Order: sequence, then structure tokens, then C-alpha cells
Amino acid sequence: MTTTKDLQGIPGRMSHHVEGCPFHPRCTQRIQICASGVPAPAGDGDRLIACHRGGIVPLLEVKRCSKSFGSLKVLQGVECTLHEGETLALVGESGSGKTTLARAIMGLVNADEAETLLEGQRITKRTRDFYQRVQMIFQNPGESISHRLNVLQTVKEPLDIHKAGSEEDRLKRVRRVLNEVELPSDDAFLKKYPHHLSAGEAQRVAIARALALNPKVLIADEPTSSLDASVQAKILKLIMNLQEKMGLSVLFITHDLALAKKTSDRLAVILSGRIVEEGPTSEIVSHPLHPYTKALIDFAPLLEDRLGRNTAQTIPNIKRQTSAIASGCPYAHRCPGAKNRCFEDNPELNACSPRKAACFYP
Ligand SMILES: Nc1ncnc2c1ncn2[C@@H]1O[C@H](COP(=O)(O)OP(=O)(O)OP(=O)(O)O)[C@@H](O)[C@H]1O
Ligand code: SF4
Ligand SMILES: [Mg+2]
Repeated sequence: MTTTKDLQGIPGRMSHHVEGCPFHPRCTQRIQICASGVPAPAGDGDRLIACHRGGIVPLLEVKRCSKSFGSLKVLQGVECTLHEGETLALVGESGSGKTTLARAIMGLVNADEAETLLEGQRITKRTRDFYQRVQMIFQNPGESISHRLNVLQTVKEPLDIHKAGSEEDRLKRVRRVLNEVELPSDDAFLKKYPHHLSAGEAQRVAIARALALNPKVLIADEPTSSLDASVQAKILKLIMNLQEKMGLSVLFITHDLALAKKTSDRLAVILSGRIVEEGPTSEIVSHPLHPYTKALIDFAPLLEDRLGRNTAQTIPNIKRQTSAIASGCPYAHRCPGAKNRCFEDNPELNACSPRKAACFYP
């Protein structure tokens, strides 16, 4: 198997003396029967899967998500699925609608139309239970943590809101989660305010706050873009380690394809508020189907500075689309392969199994 993701290893140990599914002690989507019954291989076609849940299940599904600000159509029927235990990278240029999508999922922006499913259940209201299971880290730690709260108050606040255990339990949880994000947990550190912290420490505190309730899904919106290169690498490694350790599913938002390659299992490429390609990261990177994805890949080395960082947020020399196109393919005006039809009809995100691409001429 080819992979582009930095491998972290599967947590836990293999055992030959387990009842039920041999993977159940380490599986993040196990259900009751997994501990007692051995699943039989099943499936159609030439692939068989021995799993009581029929393989990896969808965890968070977004359907037909649309949002306009005035006449600007920022999201236009976005569809994407985050599966159990995976990292899905949402990649696109500045202004393509990534943060708006994340905020719509979190209920921080009212979508004009959208259907959100969490573990198969339709979400109509963002209740406490939703926020217990889905948390977000913002691009700027200042958005995740208030300058008026110290470290203890910041990390404990979600536990207080959810009335999670006794006061003593909450304090223990705060110390444990600070240790998990590799921060000190002594009283002196707990009393620090954001202006006493470095940018990297502040982002770690924001991550600790997001993880305090032990969520299933973490939405990370450009979590390293406000940090310098050496701190960026450490925070990324931390998120990836935590993902493996805690069995998290991560929606990782970035404009940087090189980062997406290192961190994700699957990619969704967004352009002018539409997903134009989606599929396994290694396959998309080695063989992009959509001309826009190809341009992102071709230009990626040009976007890197001497330290290997992606510093630009748009493809150079190709004029960025600032407003959504009323009809036709959102890439038509920049696409070298565009034909008449591309300016008239909007290509659907069609399945080219196991991938999807929205292009008439992939
Ligand atoms: N509250 C708002 N009111 C009006 N326009 C908005 C609002 N929020 C976002 N927009 C516009 O929607 C478009 C998409 O913004 P969004 O923040 O989702 O992009 P992005 O892909 O996250 O970009 P970046 O990579 O720069 O963070 C932009 O043109 C932005 O100006
Ligand atoms: S549909 Fe046409 S314009 Fe759009 S990416 Fe495909 S070839 Fe290019
Ligand atoms: Mg953004």
C-alpha cells in the first residue's frame, strides 16, 4: 500500500487470547457484540470484511451545505464525510469557504440549507451532547481561549458547563489533559493567563480545552498557521499522536497541500464553496483527477519558502476566483482544459470509485 501520511502506529497490542473480534480492544468503533462474537467475513464483489459494522463507518456527514453572505455564495451544496478514526483534510485556497463550512458544522454560522449527521443521527440542534462529541480548534488561539480566563478556567470551563463529575474530578481531568498536550500541570501554570503564554503554549491550551470532554471529532481549522515553523511541526505531531491515542476523527483544514499529505488519510478539495475532488490522499496526490487539484499539486513546491513552509494561500500566476460563479464549473475561467460546456453546466461530484471528482473531462 502506498501512503503519504506520517505513520504513528496502532495503539495497543495484538493478542491471540481475545474473545470476539480480535481487533475489538483497540477498535474505536466497537459495539457490544464486538467483545463476544467473532465477525464472519462478508461483503459483495471480491472484497470481504470481517467486521460487525461492515467496515469503517461514517462518523460525521455533511450534506447539501449552502451558505450565502448577501449575494456571495460561499458554500454551494457541499457534501463531505468524515469516517471513524480518520483524518480528512479539507484543502483549498484562501476564501474558498473552509472556515465557513467548519463554523456551519459547529452551528456557529446558520447555513441556508444543510443536513448534518453524527453517528447516523440527524442533528437539528447543537445540544450539549453534540459539543461533547464534536469540538473545534480555531486558526487563531485567541478565538478558542479568552484573555480573561486563566489556564485552569479555560480548560475546565467545558467540564463545568457539562457538569462532568465532581470539582475534584474536573481538576484531575484538567491536569491530565494538560499533560496529554505536553504542558505543565502545576498550580503556577494553571494560574497563567493567555498573555503569559507563548503562541505555541496558547495553541496547546486551546487543544487541551477542545479535548477536555474526550470528543470523538476534532475540527482543526489551520491550527498551525499563526505559529512559526518549528512550533508548527510540534503542534502537528501532537495532534496526530493524540488522534491515535484517543481514537479521534479529525477534520483538518488547511490551504497547504504538503501538510495535508503528511497528516491525512483522505482529502477533500474545495473550490469556490464546492467540493471538486475527494478520495484517498495517496491516490489523489499521485494521480489527481480534477484539473484544479492538479494545479494545487503542481504549484505546491513553488509555494514553499526556504524552510519548506507553504507561505502563499493562492496558486500564483493564476487569478484567484473571488466571487462564486453563477453557472458552470467554478474552475472554468482558469482551467486549461475548459470547453464550452464547462462555462454553462455545473459538473456534479461523480463517483470514480473509490474517488469522486467534479469535472466533465477528468
Ligand atoms: N460573516 C461573514 N460575512 C460576510 N462574508 C463572509 C463572512 N464570513 C466569511 N465571509 C466571506 O466568505 C468567503 C469565505 O470565507 P472563509 O473564511 O470561509 O474562507 P477560508 O477558505 O476559510 O479562507 P482562509 O484560508 O483565508 O481562512 C470569503 O470571501 C469571506 O470574505
Ligand atoms: S469541468 Fe471543465 S472547466 Fe471544470 S475542471 Fe473540468 S475541464 Fe476544467
Ligand atoms: Mg479560514
